[in-house]
Amino acid sequence: MTDGPTRVSGDLIIRDAHVLDPASGLDGIADVRLSDGRVAEVGENLRGTRRLDADGLHLFPGFVDVHAHWRTPGREDEETIETGSAAAAAGGFTSVVMMPNTDPIVDRPVVVSGLVRRVERESRVRAYVSAALHEGLEGERLTEMRLLKEAGAFCVSDDGLGTQSAGVLRNAMLYAKSAGLPVILHCEDHTLATGVVHDGVAAALAGMPGSPGSAEDVATATALVLATETGARVHVTHVSTALSAALVGFFKGRGDITADTTPHHLTLTDDLVGTLEGLYRVNPPLRPDADRLDVGKALKDGILDFVATDHAPHASEEKELPLEEAAPGFLGHETAFSALYTELVAKPGGRLSLSRLVETMACTPGRWVKGGAYGISPGAPADLTLVDLSEQWTVRAEALVSRSSNSPYLGRRLEGRVVGTMVGGELVYDGMGARFGARV
Ligand code: DOR
Repeated sequence: MTDGPTRVSGDLIIRDAHVLDPASGLDGIADVRLSDGRVAEVGENLRGTRRLDADGLHLFPGFVDVHAHWRTPGREDEETIETGSAAAAAGGFTSVVMMPNTDPIVDRPVVVSGLVRRVERESRVRAYVSAALHEGLEGERLTEMRLLKEAGAFCVSDDGLGTQSAGVLRNAMLYAKSAGLPVILHCEDHTLATGVVHDGVAAALAGMPGSPGSAEDVATATALVLATETGARVHVTHVSTALSAALVGFFKGRGDITADTTPHHLTLTDDLVGTLEGLYRVNPPLRPDADRLDVGKALKDGILDFVATDHAPHASEEKELPLEEAAPGFLGHETAFSALYTELVAKPGGRLSLSRLVETMACTPGRWVKGGAYGISPGAPADLTLVDLSEQWTVRAEALVSRSSNSPYLGRRLEGRVVGTMVGGELVYDGMGARFGARV
């Protein structure tokens, strides 16, 4: 799906939703009129040709996920553009950035242009292609970033792997800057990351080889120093340690630097290593509670800019294994909002406001992707998410929309649920039942 307006016939009124949009300062019951795929008006008693009764629901700007693995091309048994985008829509995401660690790797213009065309045909949501920073994600030869951009790449990343040579990374940043492409960095030093879980008490008790937090921190520090020096637009993804979050805070404002963390690093800890289940292997690994709390505080305080899911589907034969043998990665799209709302907002003493959660899932990543204000305002594309905060649900493998089922929340009861997602005014996910009506 592209950024062009999606035509819908007549005007749709979303009636009586609690409209919450930190970007435009909306926080109250209102009607929203959509016309020609865009927001036309926000007000009271609006009139149109169709209506959607959103009484009791919250309406947010559509969520934006800058980190997803849709496994196309190459591992369509795990996810496709169709199933990945359907899972994204079910989680309230209206825009997604697809990572390039596919087979073939997205390191040539022909792969980029092929993906761009497939996205237009197959994706339910807007999807942006990240090309590789290095050929084969090998951290040696830079990709032809200018040609990748011409072919439709939105950004560059070697996600899944860290870049081991600071000199090579510096050149990559300079080249990406000259090509006008943002760089998304997975910060991991492979000489330190030799284990399969976080190197801490839980790993010791489980007898698991651990990777220290320094594996992330050393690489994050290198990336931030080089981002500051080169002036490249650098986004550090899936920050999971207290020290890396603090480093982002130190370097913020000294360069064109942004950073995200994931729902799982904000809600789960390395205690799960004690299960010995491969389901809980992820990279960067789940950390101790002290890291989780500091990373959450950094998100609350705006040091970390937004949340991204790192949606990483894996086949059951790659996850239903002992931890040491399992592939790293968690599903993320379908549970992101509910997991964060349950753990950080709704829990007594919750540490995040609903408004900040919406900002970090929609407004800030939206601004990062679209390059301008992102919210519910007249003229903006009608990319919207409807949520029922009163709904409670249990995460079940068989009910997931994704082609895979490796959610770390399986069996958990979550609060708040996405019930509707609109892209360009078109309903791409409908979990609402009969709420549509004729003319108002
Ligand atoms: O756990 C992870 N899985 N981390 C990554 O960085 C890559 C991802 C994947 O592609 O499976």
